[in-house]
Amino acid sequence: MAYETIEVEPLSPNIGAEISGVDLSQPLGNQTFSEIHDALMEHQVIFFRDQTMDWEQHKAFGRRFGELHVHPTAPSPEGHPEILTIRGDAKSKQVAGQHWHSDVSCDEEPPMGSILHLHEVPVPGGDTMFASMYAAYDALSDTMKAFLDGKQAWHESEHVHGKRYGHKGGMRDGEENLYPKSLHPIVRTHPVTGRKALFVNCNFTTRIEGLKQNESDAILGMLYRHIETPEFHCRFPWRNNSVAFWDNRCAQHKALWDYYPKTRHGYRVTVQGDRPV
Ligand code: SIN
Repeated sequence: MAYETIEVEPLSPNIGAEISGVDLSQPLGNQTFSEIHDALMEHQVIFFRDQTMDWEQHKAFGRRFGELHVHPTAPSPEGHPEILTIRGDAKSKQVAGQHWHSDVSCDEEPPMGSILHLHEVPVPGGDTMFASMYAAYDALSDTMKAFLDGKQAWHESEHVHGKRYGHKGGMRDGEENLYPKSLHPIVRTHPVTGRKALFVNCNFTTRIEGLKQNESDAILGMLYRHIETPEFHCRFPWRNNSVAFWDNRCAQHKALWDYYPKTRHGYRVTVQGDRPV
């Protein structure tokens, strides 16, 4: 892909690229927007350094890519329902995103992308791992691809947001105790690239429709181990004011919590997506 207004440096053969030559706090011209979008489609997760954005600028950048998503359970700063705080510090009992996942896959229309801006990061530590679900799908045998083709799996959230993170109280949709759950294809086709990607994750996916629980556990367990293959990954070492923008339709991520009791702090804006097909 030829880029004219930005520089794009791949981080690994399968996933991830660092972008330079753009200030995300400023409105993007059409050419730069289109090149950033192309880079995201090509690399599945893109990174930017030395960005200073306030919440409004962060949201404005996200809105270039679509409507903003509101998390079903996580609290947000007063007046900014589209802002998700990401924080680990000496008081944390756990941090968000410690298990491989794509964001909020329990929603009927899971987010297309997530844009995380970290203001304060520990040194060293607090890296985020990303895994290409194209590479994971491509590496399966033809027999396993044929087995998974057309199958669906349940993505649930009560065990994550209700139990693990101790959520109590209001839900996004104003209904108490209705944690989202959805049935999605195990292999989805990316709406822009047309490539096939694995779409199950160990955080939210609980059961393959039509299989007995022990059969489903065995297949999902195999897929979760497969997703952990290092050749499908890149690892991003954050610095203060870095930004990561990942495509949840074809990438999973895992936040490393190796920095306790230090502080890691920032905000995420999430872009609405479509129903997986
Ligand atoms: C998340 O959005 O899942 C958290 C990612 C991170 O903190 O690196």
